[in-house]
Amino acid sequence: MKLGVNIDHIAVLREARRIADPDPLDALSICKRAGADQITIHLREDRRHMQDSDAKNIIELSALPVNLECAIEPTMIDIACSLRPHRVTLVPEKREEVTTEGGLAVTGDQPRLKEAIRRLQEEEIEVSLFIDPDLDAVRASVDLHVEWIEFHTGKYANIYAMLYGNLANTHHTIKELELPRKVLRQMCEDELRNLRLLSCDAMELGLKVAAGHGLNYQNVKEVVEIETIEELNIGQSIIARSVYTGLEQAILDMKALLIR
Ligand code: PXP
Repeated sequence: MKLGVNIDHIAVLREARRIADPDPLDALSICKRAGADQITIHLREDRRHMQDSDAKNIIELSALPVNLECAIEPTMIDIACSLRPHRVTLVPEKREEVTTEGGLAVTGDQPRLKEAIRRLQEEEIEVSLFIDPDLDAVRASVDLHVEWIEFHTGKYANIYAMLYGNLANTHHTIKELELPRKVLRQMCEDELRNLRLLSCDAMELGLKVAAGHGLNYQNVKEVVEIETIEELNIGQSIIARSVYTGLEQAILDMKALLIR
């Protein structure tokens, strides 16, 4: 299973001081050495972590393919088209959210989304849609003729954290905190079954399937077992571990869990 390492949080640390250190560019060679398959970065409209110059330098200098996440705003698509990363993952963005809290709206008439996809594909950039694990969203993605979808695994990660007591890893936003373990266990199984069935459907319909959000060293194993998911994009847990182990070891530890 392939691993995209999301290095945004290196820029989060830098922006906390608004100085030049740590530079996410320095992560590129370490990610490559540790066996990462892809670099993932999110250029947010509010530029709270990655800056335009980071995106430019990373895309220019990375020996690994770069997956640029951005909103469907025309100005962001302008930037993506000019930087020409290997892939663009279109994500929903709300300024007030701490992180990307749900999948992109893809069903119904989506003229702005269609235009963004058209423009990116015209530049020969692969397009991925970050969607909730939902059949209508999968079907809509097929109709939009994108190459990839990425399933948002945040709900699974939250349920897993509540079930196994690792509340530090939940966003505390869902109502299930009070639910009995038996119910949580069932919810966790349902979420995994849904991911398994949908990724199988998506693959049969010609899409490549990635997944990500909230995945960590505890909860990733069950997702790795879903063979139709080709790639995971993981940020927070890897960068968090790297504070103590170094980035190379944190990636090696995650790669070891991704062996099928
Ligand atoms: N995939 C997408 C599309 C994301 O937006 C994010 C968060 O930036 C991730 C994966 C990685 O999530 P996490 O940092 O929780 O591992």
